[in-house]
Amino acid sequence: MARRLAFINYKGGVGKTSLIVNTAACLARMGHRVLLCDFDTQSNASIWLLRLERWNPINATGEGALYSLFDPGQRRLRDLIVRDVVLDRAGGHPLPGLDLLPTTFNLVDLESEYAGDPRRPAYVIFQEQLAEVEADYDFILFDCPPNILRASQCGIFSANEIYVPANPDALSLIGFTLLVEKLARFHQLSAGFRRAAMGPAAQVHGIIFNAIKTGVDIEVPRMRMQLRLNQFKAARRTAREARIFESFVRDAMVVRRAVALGLPVNLLGQEADGDNVVRDYERVAEELLRLAPVAV
Ligand SMILES: Nc1ncnc2c1ncn2[C@@H]1O[C@H](COP(=O)(O)OP(=O)(O)OP(=O)(O)O)[C@@H](O)[C@H]1O
Ligand SMILES: [Mg+2]
Repeated sequence: MARRLAFINYKGGVGKTSLIVNTAACLARMGHRVLLCDFDTQSNASIWLLRLERWNPINATGEGALYSLFDPGQRRLRDLIVRDVVLDRAGGHPLPGLDLLPTTFNLVDLESEYAGDPRRPAYVIFQEQLAEVEADYDFILFDCPPNILRASQCGIFSANEIYVPANPDALSLIGFTLLVEKLARFHQLSAGFRRAAMGPAAQVHGIIFNAIKTGVDIEVPRMRMQLRLNQFKAARRTAREARIFESFVRDAMVVRRAVALGLPVNLLGQEADGDNVVRDYERVAEELLRLAPVAV
């Protein structure tokens, strides 16, 4: 059974997309079958992995984009998946096993124009269709925007585990706190649609510090985050085993460069050599693997 993980924080720009794309790439390199679903209308993960030349045509027509599951509702999720999404300059597939469910700017229509059947919210439609491909994967990862509006709800409803990328600052702590509150509300709202086979509603299982600058001591922000996490755990508002990851990702120029090059950092070869950040993402992937999957 695939582990289904959502990466989200109510604080924007903390590195959710960088972390999920690069961790997904590490998992794929270790031989795991990974599906990355992009729930952000900004389409950062999709543009990164498809590069503009493959993403632009999808964006222009909407054909093949996530939103076509809902409107006109004719497309099946399994037909939208871009298999072995990363292409090298020669057109080869340097990272087999990393698949993408791509998004384009029209996903924003899900938040306003979309008028679906209230008895079948978008997150139910998504979950049912995802179930058809789950057996093909070891990991299904959801890159969410910094909110729990309709698009994000699809990821949260289908996930069994939530991970919170965070920077060592007060805003990330506020974003985490807000997330836990909004999550409880959404779980209440959607409880009637859950079926036993889906497993428990997703709780926060981990916090992952990202973009740590050289010389910056993260002990104090880490301690503050741990205190908040302890309060939530005591109130059973996060998973009992929730923790701050031992591994964290350093701030490195190559992470920004990777986006421009349309590759995850672990494929940058020489360019990323000497830059320990690839090892950081591998450690995050290894730590995820060490955590026991949620029993479904
Ligand atoms: N470890 C890192 N080192 C250097 N730059 C980073 C690192 N992680 C992320 N960044 C940069 O920080 C910016 C924000 O990162 P990213 O887009 O991953 O955040 P996000 O949380 O997904 O944002 P949003 O809330 O808009 O979805 C990007 O320019 C990205 O390249
Ligand atoms: Mg993002």
